[in-house]
Amino acid sequence: MHTGAQYHDFMLGSAPDQRVRERFQKTALSLLPAGATVLDFGAGTGIDARAYAAQGHPTYVYEPSDAMRDYLSQHCQSEIAQKSIVPVALPLACDVHAVTANFAVLNHIVDPRQLFEDLSHIVPSGGFVLASMLNPYYLGDARYRWWRANAWKLMRHGRYAIESESRIHRFAPRLMARAALPHFRFERLMPGGLGMATQLYMFLLFRRT
Ligand SMILES: C[S@@+](CC[C@H](N)C(=O)[O-])C[C@H]1O[C@@H](n2cnc3c(N)ncnc32)[C@H](O)[C@@H]1O
Repeated sequence: MHTGAQYHDFMLGSAPDQRVRERFQKTALSLLPAGATVLDFGAGTGIDARAYAAQGHPTYVYEPSDAMRDYLSQHCQSEIAQKSIVPVALPLACDVHAVTANFAVLNHIVDPRQLFEDLSHIVPSGGFVLASMLNPYYLGDARYRWWRANAWKLMRHGRYAIESESRIHRFAPRLMARAALPHFRFERLMPGGLGMATQLYMFLLFRRT
């Protein structure tokens, strides 16, 4: 169990995670029209939210963990005071152009179909959901018994969860693409090709139909 501060310091001190974060933020910002609103879903300590707000995007943050939320309110204190970042108690308490979910937030979701249905109420046609999720095909995990033990389940069912990580689910992109329909169309998977074997995180972009 870590505090928000520990998570925050760890993430900012980890060069590989920082590189992933930079790529994610750059992707999100390149997709957002000027001034468009964002919901950072599972915002953690508000690292991405601050980056979006700094680029002129009014940003709502939803974060269920008390520890993360407490640290977010310190880290984003001045943006919250200026209302460029607005914490929401429920994800559906806002209307936004896009929803971002960085660093495995959607791996906590048991029922992705329900999530996309819910998000369809706050994202208008043309808007998007961008998520960074644990890549179930990452070969760096192939040294673990749990990875090999679940490979068949992944191929057959497109998902699995392992007991030692009680609330983390691994999802194949095709399962997420199906779960998003009919509200969102799966538009892009990043990285493509060989990158899927070498990157721990994959980015999935869903466009609101
Ligand atoms: C690895 S952290 C990522 C935090 C943040 N997005 C970042 O980029 O640093 C995963 C986050 O997902 C949040 N989370 C867990 N279950 C969730 C749920 N059902 N809905 C939204 N967020 C959830 C956790 O509280 C945690 O803050």
